[in-house]
Order: sequence, then C-alpha cells, then structure tokens
Amino acid sequence: MGQGWGTLFALNGYETVLIDVDKKRLEEAVARINLQIDFLVNAGLGKDSEKAKNRITTATSMAEGVHDASFVVESVYESYDAKRAVYKEMDEHAPADTPLASSSSGLLMSRIQTAAARHPERCIVAHPWNPVYLIPLVELCPGQLTSEETTRRTYKLMEEIGKVPIVVRKEVPGFIANRLSAALWREALDLVDKGVASAEDVDKAVSFGPGLRWAIMGPYLTYHLGGGSGGIEYIMRHIGVSKAEWLETMAKWTRTPDSAVEKAVRGVSEMRLVKEKTYEELETYRDERLVQLLKIMKSSL
Ligand SMILES: NC(=O)c1ccc[n+]([C@@H]2O[C@H](COP(=O)([O-])OP(=O)(O)OC[C@H]3O[C@@H](n4cnc5c(N)ncnc54)[C@H](O)[C@@H]3O)[C@@H](O)[C@H]2O)c1
Repeated sequence: MGQGWGTLFALNGYETVLIDVDKKRLEEAVARINLQIDFLVNAGLGKDSEKAKNRITTATSMAEGVHDASFVVESVYESYDAKRAVYKEMDEHAPADTPLASSSSGLLMSRIQTAAARHPERCIVAHPWNPVYLIPLVELCPGQLTSEETTRRTYKLMEEIGKVPIVVRKEVPGFIANRLSAALWREALDLVDKGVASAEDVDKAVSFGPGLRWAIMGPYLTYHLGGGSGGIEYIMRHIGVSKAEWLETMAKWTRTPDSAVEKAVRGVSEMRLVKEKTYEELETYRDERLVQLLKIMKSSL
C-alpha cells in the first residue's frame, strides 16, 4: 500500500520519501512505482512521468525519512503492536504539527495514537483501497484524541491528490467500506461453501449485476430507484419485507470455516481468467478496466 501512496503523491507534485526497514522491499517498491507512474501517464491520468519518478527517494531510518515531512502515511502490517511501535517513532522524529495518517484496514486509531505521546492529536486513519493509485476512496477515521484540524488538513490533502475522502463519524473497527465488504464477502464464501454456486459465478453475479450499479450510485440511491415513484420508502416498507426469509438463512459466522477457505482457494484456481493469465496479467486486466470506469466516475465529480 505504501508503494501505491508513493505513486499518487509523486504524480501529484509532492517530494516523496519511502521508508522501510527492508532495503530490498524499498528497491522493489521504487521499481513498481515507476511502472505505476508510466501506466497512469499512458492512461491519461497523470503527466510528466520522469519528473514524478525523480520526486521519489528512500530511507531506512524513521529519523531520516520524516524529520522534515509535511505529511506522513504509515503502511506497515496490520497489527496494533507494529503500528504502535511505528507511531512512537514517527511522533519522535516528525515535525510537531505534521499529520500522521495510517493506512490501517480496520484498526482503531484510539488504540494506536496513545503511543504517539508527544502529539496524539495529529494521528488519524486514512484507509485507502487497493490499488491506491486508482481507487479514489479514502476513509478518514479520527481517534478519540484526534483534533478537528488534523481531520480537516488530511481531508484537504486527500482531495488535492485526487482522492474521494469520507469521514467516519463514530469510530468502529473496519470503518465503513470494509464493513460493507466483509458482509458481502461472508455471504460470498458461504454460498460457495454450501455448494449453492461456484466462486466464478459468485464473482460474475457481483461484477455483471449489482456491482455495476453500485459503481455509479451505491446501495441507497440504487434502491431508491428500484421503488418507482414510492422510492426508497416503498422498497423498504413493502418489497423489502420479503427479504426476512433470505436473511434468516444467510451466514452469521464470525470465523471463516476451514471448508470455506479450502473451497475459495480451489474455486479461484478453477476460474477461467486465473487459468489464462499470470498474477501480473490479472492486475493489468483489472487496472485497464478500472481506468475506463474511473474516467466515467470522474466526469461526474
Ligand atoms: N493489501 C491491501 O489490499 C490493503 C488495502 C487497504 C489497506 N491496507 C492496510 O495497509 C497496511 C499495509 O498493508 P500491506 O498489504 O501493504 O502490507 P505489506 O506487508 O505488504 O507491507 C508492510 C511493509 O511495512 C514494512 N515495515 C514493517 N515494519 C516496519 C517498520 N518498523 N518501519 C518501516 N517499515 C516497516 C515491511 O517491511 C513491509 O514492506 C496494513 O495496515 C493494511 O491493513 C492493505
């Protein structure tokens, strides 16, 4: 995720320092960023690729990397212990009013920012979606000690680099989009585990069905348009009632059963696209289509 952020900041004119404890990961990250910059510029989503590439530098120590930073994004692995340790270091070395944002997919900033004892008020979650350089959404989730100023500055910067920020008003694990995603994912796994459908058909059901509508409007407006002149209220008070039977038979587990993991792995390996393409070719297939969709979505921003 750090690479994706690097691509975005560099393309948008910011001098960008990548920090990692592992030198080899840094070299790989720079190579991938260069490819991502070329891809975006070729797709018409950025310009001056050489200038953008020259804005990237690397560091293996926090002090070297953040001492003069105006904004920092942390993207280490998803664990309170790892993030608290990194926040402590960032807080010690970054200028006092520099916001410290976390890419966390669902951890609570309130449990991380107490490690940044000097200035916990400048700590906030800024959860991106993969690939960071293409998916516009970023979820800002302040912790209990986060200042309004930090949320405001982070929001503004995210807009400047082309993101679509939303703010979580009450801190919850998984924020907004990952909670929605987790609800759908549990049911997707369960349908395959129970033998109702293949993994390939579940994917088709989403991407050729509701997924297309969700890309344009999301569930609320989509249902509003399903209710005719009665709109959302008609859908919810009349048609929605019949969903009770579906909901009663849907998955409710909180730990993924082993059988679902096994069937998911097998199901993906049996997909036509997976048999035909390498992992890298699948990423390109996704990114090329995302670019087309993005151009449509950006025209309505
Ligand atoms: N992978 C996704 O699709 C995705 C999507 C959204 C958010 N996120 C979140 O982004 C974060 C990073 O995820 P990822 O998939 O990129 O992880 P990753 O394991 O690929 O990368 C983590 C990096 O952090 C480095 N690191 C570990 N400790 C460090 C330290 N003390 N100082 C500096 N660098 C250190 C590692 O060397 C590694 O390069 C997580 O919080 C994750 O939940 C991931």
